[in-house]
Amino acid sequence: MFGSRCVVAIAVLVLMGALAPAVSARQAFPRGFLWGTATAGFQVEAGGGRANSDRRSDWWAFTTDPDLIRAGVVSGDRVDRGPGFWRTWRGDLDRARRRLGSNAIRLGLEWSRIFPRSTARIHTGRRVGRADLRRLDRVADAGAVRRYRRIIRGAHRRGMQVLLTLNHFTLPIWVHDPLAVRRAFAGVGPAEPVPAGLRRAGWLNRSTVSEFRKYAAFAAWKFGGDVRLWATLNEPLVTVSQGFASIPGLTGVKAPAVLSFTAALRALENLGLANAAAYDAIKAADRHARVGFVHNMVAWRPSNPSSPADAVAARHADQLFNRAWLDLAVRGIYDIDADGVEDPGERRPRLAGKADFVGVNHYSPGRAGALGGPVSPVVPLFDFVPAVTYRGTGNPGGPPCPSTCSDFGWEIDPTGFRQVVEEAARYGKPIYVTENGIDDREDDQRGGYLRGYLRALRAAIAEGADVRGYFHWSLLDNYEWAEGFAAHFGLYAFDARTLRRTERPSARLFRRIARANALP
Ligand code: FCB
Repeated sequence: MFGSRCVVAIAVLVLMGALAPAVSARQAFPRGFLWGTATAGFQVEAGGGRANSDRRSDWWAFTTDPDLIRAGVVSGDRVDRGPGFWRTWRGDLDRARRRLGSNAIRLGLEWSRIFPRSTARIHTGRRVGRADLRRLDRVADAGAVRRYRRIIRGAHRRGMQVLLTLNHFTLPIWVHDPLAVRRAFAGVGPAEPVPAGLRRAGWLNRSTVSEFRKYAAFAAWKFGGDVRLWATLNEPLVTVSQGFASIPGLTGVKAPAVLSFTAALRALENLGLANAAAYDAIKAADRHARVGFVHNMVAWRPSNPSSPADAVAARHADQLFNRAWLDLAVRGIYDIDADGVEDPGERRPRLAGKADFVGVNHYSPGRAGALGGPVSPVVPLFDFVPAVTYRGTGNPGGPPCPSTCSDFGWEIDPTGFRQVVEEAARYGKPIYVTENGIDDREDDQRGGYLRGYLRALRAAIAEGADVRGYFHWSLLDNYEWAEGFAAHFGLYAFDARTLRRTERPSARLFRRIARANALP
């Protein structure tokens, strides 16, 4: 009896062994692959009482301004009705680890929490030394630093590697007053020069670069022991396009939401400098740190697939929104005249190679329709109408979805994911998917989205893309910038009154994948 049972068991094991390689070759992710969720400070920290809110950021001012609310530029939703991660982080980290099976998490720092007051008086030069750090320490908010350290260590202790973002759109109000910037641009045409003498103008001021360097050096000093993976900037091209070439419904809205192509180019240059400065500052503190940036990539297609003009438009959109930043931060080419060609004088060796990895954020494809000429002579490549966000929570007045869209109004098409990951991989750096996910309140699309997009990612890896991890956006429903709480990107929903979390069914699928390090 025992003997025959044994034979059966051995036969089953042999069979499993025979089947396993076939399954894993197609569906397994590389060894050591990181699985986690992504969040950003401003979007999740506030909520559950005044003590958890930070009123010192530009986005606080931007989202609570009565004129902007009245004009419909921002939703009017109060960020302090959010999930309250500033207080609930322990439970949320438990959830990420135990319920979602994550071995990593992407977290963001709020610069304005760490430095609620200006650091401009502390002069440091290009290298931030020990004495400078001690002076910065006297200006920093010790309570905020302590809290962030606990959160980061908490993630670490639970077995999750931390990818830490320094800047996820928000700036301290002493760096950027978006309402003052908007006033300064009132009546200024999109091709006119940036008004002179702007102060507290965020990425329009060169001084923001040196302040960012101090903040980066300080963060590396304080948190470096628990963080190996750093992201300098989140989606710099979104900051540029939605912040300074802001056309609601077309390019989108981020603070300060002005329309000035000259300002957009200046912001791009300062963001390139800021990335390099932060990269160097973190590496100086810890040469083993892996420092990258997070870049939003849209898979551009011609609006009309059989139109040659639209095909050119899609290439221009790809250059402008996807490649211009990669060219700047990886290759050190700053395309000052935005013509998509490297002209003499556009090489900036000091900006080149400022990334150990590229963080790719990807959600959807976009369509470009040729216009027959540039929108503005300042940006010759911008000679198309971009369509990314159709009618939905992201664009309530937008055109109807031409295919299948998420609640937000973004088209669902996994083939674009493979396209942009392969495009980023051609820059020769390892890739982390730093965001991918879907606005789906009812959770009836998320499972299919996750399976389809991860299959596409797996295919890109099979073709040779060096992808090291995947961070799903997002752990929790959160404050979606100008759109407020209309969007629901979370694997968990939350109750604004009780802060209770509710797991969406697709969280179980994420856990299965993360634990197996393979597609089901
Ligand atoms: C990305 C942002 C993130 C969130 C998602 C939906 O552009 O980085 O904060 O808004 O989109």
